Amino acid sequence: PRPILLTRHGESRDNVRGRIGGDSVISDAGELYAKKLANFVEKRLKNERAASIWTSTLQRTILTASPIVGFPKIQWRALDEINAGVCDGMTYEEIKKNMPDEYESRKNDKLRYRYPRGESYLDVIQRLEPVIIELERQRAPVVVVAHQAVLRALYAYFADRPLKEIPHIEMPLHTIIEIQMGVTGVQEKRYKLM
Ligand code: F6P
Repeated sequence: PRPILLTRHGESRDNVRGRIGGDSVISDAGELYAKKLANFVEKRLKNERAASIWTSTLQRTILTASPIVGFPKIQWRALDEINAGVCDGMTYEEIKKNMPDEYESRKNDKLRYRYPRGESYLDVIQRLEPVIIELERQRAPVVVVAHQAVLRALYAYFADRPLKEIPHIEMPLHTIIEIQMGVTGVQEKRYKLM
């Protein structure tokens, strides 16, 4: 059995301000997580010479992976966070106040709701397909450093969670979800690096 390690990026400046989307750098707390993650990965994947680190193309995942040395890194656009379209850069409060209909529609059907000029969860699930195919094909461990919505979808695939639950799965910051795919099925461990 070989592990797949899933983690969100370290806390970003936009996380601190409550803004969605964007391409901000990580905060001091995010930097600290990046160092702890590197430590964890280097220990956990010692002797795993073929392992690789996958990130999105956004700064916050690339910066989070940057202290990890000794493994190749691959950037996937398909791992970028859900595109919030016209709401990119806003807080949930601002969306609620300035675009109440959009806010309500999303609340009523978070899975299917598509941000104007952006994406829905269903769109994200669809674009992740090549990533999933490649993850299935890998024989060596993979560390995936990505984003909340994207990781909900990836996790749901491996943990066999129903589609309608995906937008509501808890995906906290600074936590590693380790998935082991063995002959007896899928096993899961969580590591909170605080
Ligand atoms: O707030 C962080 C974030 O990654 C945003 O960039 C993104 O829009 C959001 O989480 C996705 O979570 P939700 O679907 O619950 O809004």
